[in-house]
Amino acid sequence: MTTDISALLTRLADPATRPDPYDTLRVLRERSPVLDPVSGLVVVARRADCEAVLRSPGVSSDRRGAGITVVPQQPNLINLDAPDHTRLRRLAGRAFKPRVIERWRPRVEAIARELLTGIAEGGGTADIASRFAYPMPVRVICEMLGVPRRDHPVFERWAHAIAYTVDPRLVPGRLDAETIADVEEAREGFAGYFSELIDARAKDPREDILSELIAAGEDEDRLTRTELVIMCILLLVAGHETTANLILNGVLALLRHPDQLGLLRDDPALAGAAVEEVLRYDAPAQMVTRIAGGPLTVGGMEIAAGSPILLLLAAANRDPDVHEAPDVFDITRGDGGHLGFAAGAHFCLGSVLARLEATIALSAFATAFADPVLVRESLRYRPHIAVRGPDRLQVSFSGISPEALEALGATERVHG
Ligand code: HEM
Repeated sequence: MTTDISALLTRLADPATRPDPYDTLRVLRERSPVLDPVSGLVVVARRADCEAVLRSPGVSSDRRGAGITVVPQQPNLINLDAPDHTRLRRLAGRAFKPRVIERWRPRVEAIARELLTGIAEGGGTADIASRFAYPMPVRVICEMLGVPRRDHPVFERWAHAIAYTVDPRLVPGRLDAETIADVEEAREGFAGYFSELIDARAKDPREDILSELIAAGEDEDRLTRTELVIMCILLLVAGHETTANLILNGVLALLRHPDQLGLLRDDPALAGAAVEEVLRYDAPAQMVTRIAGGPLTVGGMEIAAGSPILLLLAAANRDPDVHEAPDVFDITRGDGGHLGFAAGAHFCLGSVLARLEATIALSAFATAFADPVLVRESLRYRPHIAVRGPDRLQVSFSGISPEALEALGATERVHG
C-alpha cells in the first residue's frame, strides 16, 4: 500500500472508498502528523494530537476565506472564534440544555413509532435510510423549530444539498459548479423561509426552539435577525445528516454483528452504550478542519501560522494507544470515549438531542424487528466525505413487534 500522503487523501476522497475508509485512515494515522504538499493541509489523526488541537486556544475555526472548504462558509457558530463564538454559543445553548431536550422525548418516541408503523404496514423489506433514519431527525428538528409538517420534504431536500458545506478540499475540483450552485440555492431557500417564520414567531411565540432563540437574551443582548436565520440553517443542517448517519451506521454495525444486536435486544438499556460505540467505531462526523492561529507544535511537528489543519476524528477514534482492539465493534467496551462530537469550545451543541434520537432509534430497531437481515446489494453511500454514511440500506425481516411499537408510544400517551 502506498504511503504517499496526497495519494492517501485522494483515495479517502474517492467515492469507491466511502463504504470502508478505515484502512486508509489507519495508514494516515500512523503517518500523522504530516503535511500534504499538494493540498497544503496538515493531517492530524492520532487521538492525543486531535484533542490537543481541538482544545488549543491558538487554533481558529474561522474557515471563511481560508480556502479550506470548496463551498463558501457562513458566519455561523461552527466558523466563529471567541468572543463572537462565546456570545452566540451562550445564547443558543439555552435551547439545547439537557432538561429542555428531555421534554422532547415523548415526541421523538412518537415519531419513531409512526415511522416504524409505516414500515410494518409495508412488510417484508424496507429501506431504513428513506423510511426511518432520514425522516426521523428532519421531523424532530423541524418540529423543534416550529416548521409545519407540509414543509418538511422541501427542508429535507435543502438540507441534503447543503451537506456538502463542510467537506474539506482534499482533492482539487471534486465538487462541480452545479453542486455549489445547489448549496447557494438551498441557503437562499432556507433564509427566505426562516425570515418569514421568525416574523410569525416574534408576534406569536410558541413552545418551540425558534421562539426560545428569539427570546434568548441577557441584558440587552439578543440574537439579531441575520444571526437567527443563520443559526436556524445551521441547526437543521448540523442535526440532519449527522443524526441520520448515526442511526444508519448503528443499524449497519448491529446487522453485521448479530451477537451485539442480540445483546441490545435482550437488554435495551444498553442502547446508550451502543450509541457511544457507534460514534467511536463508525463516526458520522469523520473529520473537521481548523487553521493555526499562530505557530503551533503538535505531536512533535511544528505547524506554521495560517496552516490549514485536517483533523481525522474517525481515525483518532480507532487509535490503538487509547482503545484495545480498536477495530472491534463492542457495545459493552466503555473504554476511552471518542471524538465523535469533537471536543473543546466547538463540542457539538446538539449532542444531547443526537444521543436521545439515536438511543430511541437503535433500541426500537433492536426490539421491534424480527429476524432482520441486511440486503447486502442494497447498501449505497452518499458521496459526502466529512459527514459520511449510507443513503440506502435495505433490511428484510419476518415481522415487526406490535408490543415494541406500543412501548415506544407509552411516554407520550402518559404525558401528552
Ligand atoms: C450524530 C449526530 C451529530 C454528530 C456526529 C455531530 C457532530 C458534530 C461535530 C463533530 C461538531 C464540531 C464541528 C467542529 O468542531 O468543527 C459539531 C458541532 C455542532 N453541532 Fe453537531 N453533531 C450531531 C448532531 C447535532 C444536532 C442534532 C444538532 C442540533 C440540532 C447539532 C448542532 C451542532 C452545532 C450548532 C454545532 C456547532 C457548535 C459550535 O461551533 O460551537 N449537532 N457537531
